[in-house]
Amino acid sequence: MKPLEQIRNFCIVAHVDHGKSTLADRILQLTHSIEDRNFRDQVLDSMDLERERGITIKSHPVTMQYMAKDGLVYDFNLIDTPGHVDFNYEVSRSMAACEGAVLVVDVAQGVEAQTVANTYLAMENNLEVIPVLNKIDLPNADVEGSIRQIRDVLGIEMKERLCISAKTGSGVTELMEAIVREIPPPKGTREETLRALVFDSVYDSFRGVIAYVRVMQGCLRSGDKILLMATGGTTVIKEVGVFKPKQLAVDSLGAGEVGYFVSTIKLPAELKIGDTVTSAVAPAVTPLPGFKRVRPMVFSGVYPITADDHERLKHGIEKLSLNDSAFTHMSESSAVLGFGFRCGFLGLLHMEIVQERLRREFDLNIINTYPSVVYRVFMRDGTSIELDNPINLPDPTHIEHIEEPMIRASIICHNENIGDVMKLVRDRRGALDRTDSIDQLRVMLICTLPLNEILVDFHDLLKSVSHGYASMDYDYAGYVASDVVRMDILLNSEPVDAFSCMVHRTKAQSRGRDICALLKDAIPAHMFAIPVQAALNKTIIARETIRALRKDVTAKCYGGDVSRKRKLLDRQKEGKKRMKLVGKVNIPQKAFISVLKAGM
Ligand code: GTP
Repeated sequence: MKPLEQIRNFCIVAHVDHGKSTLADRILQLTHSIEDRNFRDQVLDSMDLERERGITIKSHPVTMQYMAKDGLVYDFNLIDTPGHVDFNYEVSRSMAACEGAVLVVDVAQGVEAQTVANTYLAMENNLEVIPVLNKIDLPNADVEGSIRQIRDVLGIEMKERLCISAKTGSGVTELMEAIVREIPPPKGTREETLRALVFDSVYDSFRGVIAYVRVMQGCLRSGDKILLMATGGTTVIKEVGVFKPKQLAVDSLGAGEVGYFVSTIKLPAELKIGDTVTSAVAPAVTPLPGFKRVRPMVFSGVYPITADDHERLKHGIEKLSLNDSAFTHMSESSAVLGFGFRCGFLGLLHMEIVQERLRREFDLNIINTYPSVVYRVFMRDGTSIELDNPINLPDPTHIEHIEEPMIRASIICHNENIGDVMKLVRDRRGALDRTDSIDQLRVMLICTLPLNEILVDFHDLLKSVSHGYASMDYDYAGYVASDVVRMDILLNSEPVDAFSCMVHRTKAQSRGRDICALLKDAIPAHMFAIPVQAALNKTIIARETIRALRKDVTAKCYGGDVSRKRKLLDRQKEGKKRMKLVGKVNIPQKAFISVLKAGM
C-alpha cells in the first residue's frame, strides 16, 4: 500500500493535436509501464475510431510507477483526456478524480481556444496546473511567445520553463519531477467512511458493468456491499483493480487511489456516472459533489434501414450509452422511417462518432435525421414545451413565441482573418461581444451565436476561412426569443417527416432551395417524375423535379443470356432493399446524409 505522499493523480489537458496522447505515450515508456515489444503509438487510444481520426474520444486511466530523483517510487495515476469541444464533459469528469493537470501547449501554435477553456475548467476544479511547452523540436517553435501567452491569456506565471518534445522524449523526465514536486498528494485516509467517485464506466459482455473510480476516502475491497448514493441501489463488489494500463485485480483500493470495480451490476442503466459509492453497511452522510450534469444539446433520430434491425439497434444504443453518459436515447417512430430512437448528443462530432460506432461495432446500417437543437416553445395558453424534434411542433396558431439556445464562442484567429471570421459569424446570425488580444498576430473574438447555426458545418467553414488556423471553443449562453419556423420537405407531394427541420425565417428560402437541389441529385430517377418541394406551413417556398427514367440495367446484355440478365435485375432489387420506400419513392441512405450538407 502506497503512502498518500507517494501518489500523484493528474490529467493531461490541451487543445486538439497539441500532443497529449504522445506525451502520455512517453510517460508510459519512461515509467516502463508497457513492455517495449507491446508498445505502439497512442497506446491509450484503444478504439479503432480514435486511432483513425487521431483524436481521443474516451478518458483512459492508467497507473504507473515512477522512480523519482529523491529515490522514492511514486504511483502516477494518469487520466488521458479528449481535447475536442464536444468532449469537454469527459475532461471535467476526469478532473474531478485528480489533484493536478499538465497543460500541454504546442509552441508552434501557441495558446488556442481549448487551451483557454481547459485551463479554466482545471482552475474551477481547484487543480494545480503545470503548463508545459511541447514540440520544441519543431523549427517554428516559439517558446518565448508561448510563455507570454500563457501569462497574458491564461494568467499563469510559469514557475519553471518546462520545454519538452513529447515526440523525442526530451524534457519529459524533468516534467515528471515537476509532477512529483508541484502536484499535491491526495488527501483522505483508509480508515474513514468510504466515498468514491464513479468517473467513468465501460460495459463488458462477460463481466457486466466496469466502473472507473477514484477513492476519496475509506477503502474499497472485493466482497464489500456498497451503496450507490444517487440511485440508491446496492451491489456487491466482485473485483477491484488498477489500470496497468490493462486491468489488473488488486486486494483493495484505498483513499487517493484510482482504479475500477466489477460488481453484480449487469445493466448499464443501474450505474450513474458521477455517483458516489459508499458502504451499504455504514454509509456516508453526504455524497461527493457531483459532476456538472451534462445535457445533450443536439438531437437526431436514429433509425435502422431495415425494420428487422430494430432490436439490434436498441441493444447497440443501450450498450453505447453506458460507455458514454452524455449520450441519451428514447424510442420514437417516424411515418417514413418506422421505429427508431431519438438520441441526444453534446455536439456534432459526438453525434458522428456515436453513429459511426453503431455502424462499426454493431454492424448496423442506420439512417440519422437532420440534427436539431432544443427549442423552448411558449404557447398562448401560458404553457411551454421543450422541443427536440421539429415534428412535434404544435400548431403555429397556438404558439406565442419560440426561444432558441445560444452559445458564447471564443474564436482565436490571426488578425488578417478577422474580417472573414466576422463575416461568417454574422452570416450565422451571430454578433461580436468583445475582442481580446493574444499577441501581435492573433486575437480572441468573443461572439454570441445561435447553437443551431453552428451545428453542421460552422467549424469546417471557420477552418477554411482562416486557412486552418482559427480555433474555437464554446459554452452555452441561455435562450433568446427567435423567429424560427418549421420547414417541411415533400417528395411526390408527401411530407417526409425525417427531413423536417427548424430554420430561422430569414433563411428558410435559401435552405429550402439547397435541400431540394441536394435531394434531386441524391434520389435516383424513378419511372415517374418526382416533385421535391420545401414548404413553410403548407406554403411551397422551393421546388425541384426529378425527371422520370427507367434505368434499364439489362440494356447492355444483347441476346439471350437469361441468367446474366437475372443476375443484374436481382442486383438492382438488392440495391433497392437498401433504400427507404416513402410512398412510391425510394430514398437512398445518401439522401439523408446529403441533406445534412445543405447550407445553413
Ligand atoms: P487529441 O487526442 O486529438 O486531443 O490530440 P493530442 O493532443 O493527443 O495530440 P497527439 O498526441 O495525437 O499529437 C498530435 C500530433 O502532433 C501527432 O502527429 C504527433 O506525432 C505530433 N506531436 C506530438 N508531440 C510532438 C512533438 O513534441 N514534436 C513534434 N514534432 N510532433 C509532435
